[in-house]
Amino acid sequence: MKALCWEGVNKVAPRDVPDPQIRNSGDVIVRVRQSVTCGSDLHLLGGYIPFMRQGDVLGHEFLGDVVEVGAGVRRHAVGDRVVVSSFIACGQCWYCQRQEFSLCDNGNTNPAITEQMWGAAPGGCFGYSHAMGGNAGSHAEYVRVPFADVGAFTVPDGVSDTRALFASDSAATGWMGADLGGVRPGDVVAVWGAGAVGQMAARAAMLLGAERVICIDRYDYRLAMTARHAGAETLNYERDDIGGELLERTGGRGPDVCIEAVGMEAHAPGPQGAYDMVKQQLRLQTDRTAPLRAAIYHCRKGGTVFVLGVFAGAVDKFPLGALMNKGLTVRGAQMHGQRYIPMLLERMARGELVTEHLATHMMSLDDGQRGYDIFKDKADGCVRTVFTP
Ligand SMILES: NC(=O)c1ccc[n+]([C@@H]2O[C@H](COP(=O)([O-])OP(=O)(O)OC[C@H]3O[C@@H](n4cnc5c(N)ncnc54)[C@H](O)[C@@H]3O)[C@@H](O)[C@H]2O)c1
Ligand SMILES: [Zn+2]
Ligand SMILES: [Zn+2]
Repeated sequence: MKALCWEGVNKVAPRDVPDPQIRNSGDVIVRVRQSVTCGSDLHLLGGYIPFMRQGDVLGHEFLGDVVEVGAGVRRHAVGDRVVVSSFIACGQCWYCQRQEFSLCDNGNTNPAITEQMWGAAPGGCFGYSHAMGGNAGSHAEYVRVPFADVGAFTVPDGVSDTRALFASDSAATGWMGADLGGVRPGDVVAVWGAGAVGQMAARAAMLLGAERVICIDRYDYRLAMTARHAGAETLNYERDDIGGELLERTGGRGPDVCIEAVGMEAHAPGPQGAYDMVKQQLRLQTDRTAPLRAAIYHCRKGGTVFVLGVFAGAVDKFPLGALMNKGLTVRGAQMHGQRYIPMLLERMARGELVTEHLATHMMSLDDGQRGYDIFKDKADGCVRTVFTP
């Protein structure tokens, strides 16, 4: 079958790879209809998560048709149109019982790398390096889905492929940020990053009853989309005084919940950005964190900062003093898709959660390099490139 593979830093290429096979009784094989790029892929492509091997199949956010089921699968049959959680979880272990699916003890079949880096291994992920299990990704004609009864969800008839596609990862991630960030009716929520994840976090915060949601980025086309589809207010950090505006819009207190939806390749203007970049390139820190620092700095006393952006290791100038003295709660997680996808699909069916606009570009796997280049460069109004194998 054809698949889009990692070939080196910022290089991808279509290759012929073996068809996936059922390996365990809980597996299904899915014929992919749509598979979408994610900001997380950029960290792999850029070489910031150095556990990819040449020829690894990329992609973790996808939807397709079940074409083969393992002997132990109960909830799916051949022909089901399913959307699949990007994070792989067993549904049985201590963490899964607590609905903390991305922390699953059995989802990552190669836990040694992350155990060594972080003290314990989170669950596995499709197409996300050997540190996350070395699972083949979804930018392919077919993909093997482990624990399919837990991680694959049948899409209701009325919901289009491109709407349901985003339940796989971006919408579930955004929802988790607002939910576990503790957004309550009447809150003011600030979101750093207007990519698909930030836009979905902003929309989730609105749906959870936030009084105002303020999204911050420097790309006006992404901010305009967030205003239109999430109902959020927007700020451009290259033009606006972020601290002043956030105080002004919160009666002088600061946002109740701050959501970081940027991750380890954050951009920062001026000398701070240059400093972070040099330290990252010299491997003196793994991550660039300007928006995380800003979120902690601008959050109101006693508020919550939720980290959705992906980070790898150790960072410099982490504002521990602000965190401690302002009594902040700082949390983060890989997304617990299995916990949110059924609810998201219901909201999609009711028209409350609309996602099609995120799919700004549709192309074949053969155009993979161009698809990733425009996504990485935020060129041509790109928010997400969707591959249709
Ligand atoms: N926690 C999870 O389970 C999970 C799931 C999916 C994605 N992610 C992560 O979420 C992050 C965002 O993903 P995405 O797909 O939306 O990425 P994206 O690259 O499309 O968007 C990131 C946005 O952040 C903006 N940005 C950069 N520096 C900024 C700054 N200083 N202040 C404000 N905005 C800034 C960029 O302009 C861009 O619009 C990535 O780190 C990704 O790895 C996490
Ligand atoms: Zn993702
Ligand atoms: Zn588990």
